[in-house]
Amino acid sequence: MLKVKNVSAGYEHIPVLFDVSFEIQGGEVVAIVGSNGAGKTTILRTISGILKPMAGEIEFLGERIDNIPAHKIVEKGIAHVPEGRHVFGKMTILDNLLLGAYTLKSQEDIRSVLKEVYDIFPKLKDRENQKAETLSGGEQQMLAIARAMMSKPKLLLVDEMSLGLMPLLVDKVLSILKAISERGVTVLLVEQKVQEALEIADRGYVLQTGRVIAEGTGKALLASERVKRAYLGM
Ligand SMILES: Nc1ncnc2c1ncn2[C@@H]1O[C@H](COP(=O)(O)OP(=O)(O)OP(=O)(O)O)[C@@H](O)[C@H]1O
Ligand SMILES: [Mg+2]
Repeated sequence: MLKVKNVSAGYEHIPVLFDVSFEIQGGEVVAIVGSNGAGKTTILRTISGILKPMAGEIEFLGERIDNIPAHKIVEKGIAHVPEGRHVFGKMTILDNLLLGAYTLKSQEDIRSVLKEVYDIFPKLKDRENQKAETLSGGEQQMLAIARAMMSKPKLLLVDEMSLGLMPLLVDKVLSILKAISERGVTVLLVEQKVQEALEIADRGYVLQTGRVIAEGTGKALLASERVKRAYLGM
């Protein structure tokens, strides 16, 4: 579904990703894990077209997307849940969700996707007319994911959804991603919480200072000495 080939990217001509390559098959949950500053957010920004790569190519469903604008990439079926949620606190939950549906053309389409999103996140339906700022941090994270789902994505990019959540909630939010993937949406998540992310991922990549240093199934990576020593404190 997605092929990232030898991508370098960065800010103001200073690269922070070096020759990064990875692939995602349709239906997979893939995790990119790494420490602060490794370049995880930069990868997602590059895929969703917010940043243009300095070198390399990105293909989505057989078509190059590294040279088209971000809004066209959304239309092609890639939704990005950014780091830090960015829900609109003064707007209602429903209005936040409807913002995510701006690429859909018909009211009927919007109604049907809203129903599906409420099936996954029933709490949001109960509170649809309340302001988003009344939600807890974990609930706002759910809203951010739900809003991205409103564009009916084929590929969902999720940045650090565990940030600021207590451990119990981290598991809950990650299990929601699993449920979303079971509904046919492919998921790429980036996480500092290496263990939790690799536990739910089919496959993973370890990113260190802008380079992919290991890849494998979630299980294999969790069992690898390198990952255990560097990220799991074992
Ligand atoms: N807008 C920016 N301008 C300049 N440098 C940036 C910018 N955003 C990120 N960087 C730098 O790029 C590198 C990679 O940052 P990135 O945000 O991709 O890391 P990350 O893996 O997402 O980290 P974290 O786990 O803290 O979210 C870091 O050295 C960071 O300082
Ligand atoms: Mg980040």
